[in-house]
Amino acid sequence: MRMRKKKNGAVRLSDCADLLVTKREDIPCLPITVEIGCGKGKFILETAKRNPDINYIAMEKIPDVAMLAAEKIRDEGITNVKFIVGDAMTLPELFREGEIERIYLNFSDPWPHNGHAKRRLTDRGFLELYKRLLTPTGEIVFKTDNRPLFDFSLEEFKYMGFDLEDLTYDLHNSEYMADNIVTEYEANFSAKGFSINRVRAKMSRITNLEVRKAEMSELDRIEELFSEARAFMASQNIDQWQDGYPERALLEKDITEGNRYVVCEDGKILATVGIFLGDDPTYAEIEGKWINDSSYVCIHRICVDNAVKGMGLGGAMVRACEEICRRNKCRNIRCDTHADNKPMRHMLEKNGFVYCGIIHLENGEPRVAYQKKMR
Ligand SMILES: C[S@@+](CC[C@H](N)C(=O)[O-])C[C@H]1O[C@@H](n2cnc3c(N)ncnc32)[C@H](O)[C@@H]1O
Repeated sequence: MRMRKKKNGAVRLSDCADLLVTKREDIPCLPITVEIGCGKGKFILETAKRNPDINYIAMEKIPDVAMLAAEKIRDEGITNVKFIVGDAMTLPELFREGEIERIYLNFSDPWPHNGHAKRRLTDRGFLELYKRLLTPTGEIVFKTDNRPLFDFSLEEFKYMGFDLEDLTYDLHNSEYMADNIVTEYEANFSAKGFSINRVRAKMSRITNLEVRKAEMSELDRIEELFSEARAFMASQNIDQWQDGYPERALLEKDITEGNRYVVCEDGKILATVGIFLGDDPTYAEIEGKWINDSSYVCIHRICVDNAVKGMGLGGAMVRACEEICRRNKCRNIRCDTHADNKPMRHMLEKNGFVYCGIIHLENGEPRVAYQKKMR
């Protein structure tokens, strides 16, 4: 949103300090609904008025714009809206997993050049982040006049495993219009004759997970998961596995030696993990310190279908690994990953792994090393 800098903008924003969330304790109650890119606040004002029992957070990265929205809320005496002045990327600094019930994305900046796709608020990198923060039944409601952005977003939603509901390419002439709350941009664009696109992207649910040893007949699917994971990491500029690792022969060896596991729902393989007993030579030296020197089980070459990332499959794999530990009278699990692989690091930390330092692979590349000590 282009806007001339406001006189006394900082002072006016600080006059609304009671409405600002700057630390976790300022969040009113959970779960909560968040609008990202609230602009001047027309939508959140009306939404909060209509739903006084729901608490809202409006997020806006431009302080002068957030200030205008916050003044509106203050002047109308609305008590169920607070503001985060910041970028959507910073949401995980304030929210933990499963705390957001709904995210509104209204007329997000389209970033039309392909080179800027990662900045779109519906790019898979952002969707991955939202998925972690949404409740298991959470949803993203997305509106835009921009058809190329809408088409891009639908593909990203599908790629990340969201179910699409209430999809319309002409909201204002649809059955959904009765409940629609018009935003500033929406009023502007529809007045100019643009039709408005809207979709509700819901988290899919996984109910029936099974973790078991992989069979050789499943090698193709396992390889497919790794090649999709490689493409995802490339799209996020994560330089992990870009040389084709782990090769088919290595995965085949994992299966032959009984170290490769698959996570399935209703027979479909959604994730895979290598679980290995015994010392890993690359863990002998660490820049840092392992939790202890006791025997351990290693997790290697772990990979989750993009469509079900953030839906608890990592936890299922860790639990399976813990079971193997128990059977082998061992209480420790070690693992390493690329420093830039934030989803994996998040999964490990969420499941009780502690960062221990840097190890080096056989080819000398550094990796961040984690250990979990079971109770
Ligand atoms: C095109 S305007 C739409 C404003 C409002 N939602 C509407 O529909 O009238 C997009 C708004 O999102 C904000 N924004 C863009 N990227 C953001 C991000 N990464 N985090 C937070 N706000 C963002 C911009 O500053 C701008 O105010």
